[in-house]
Amino acid sequence: MKRVLSFVCLFSFALAVTIAAQVTAPTAGETPAGQATAQAPAKIASDADYATHMKEIGQLNGMLGKAIKGSMTDEASKAATRLEVLFKNIHGYWSAKKVDDATTAAQTAVTSLQEVQKALAANDLTAAETARAKFAGTCMTCHTAHREKLPEGGFRIK
Ligand code: HEC
Repeated sequence: MKRVLSFVCLFSFALAVTIAAQVTAPTAGETPAGQATAQAPAKIASDADYATHMKEIGQLNGMLGKAIKGSMTDEASKAATRLEVLFKNIHGYWSAKKVDDATTAAQTAVTSLQEVQKALAANDLTAAETARAKFAGTCMTCHTAHREKLPEGGFRIK
């Protein structure tokens, strides 16, 4: 019985150490401030998740345009970085469904966003605006083919 007890003690100690290690672990790999919003790409699992992506894309698209026009380089690159993550997810969604034109539109969005970021890093706002216009062109292309307006308001994927 004594043996069992000491085993239990040892086990709880080991467990406590493990938990402590897990609690302290994330602080070591924390991302620098400002990059917290640019999460790693993730799989879109539902129509609701897709719509959440598009709503955020809509807001960030407006922010990106204003930031470039107002020469706010930091704001603009933050928006472009986050948009790239979102469009990588959108790309993954359509490529899994094997819908070629939508996959291409999403890919064009990703590559033009990378061009936007490159131009911003070089402080070239003219090139950033050119790449942004190319990026914004992808919205209409895909919406015309794959977005359906619902009579009760809102949209759905077609
Ligand atoms: C690859 C295809 C594709 C591209 C590219 C695309 N969209 Fe969408 N978007 C859709 C589809 C499909 C819907 C309808 C489904 C939905 O609303 O969830 C949609 C819906 C939306 C909505 C409505 C969201 C809601 O449900 O209220 C907004 C806002 C939006 N898109 C913004 C944009 C903007 C801005 C861009 C370009 C920067 C863009 N989208 C590019 C496919 C795309």
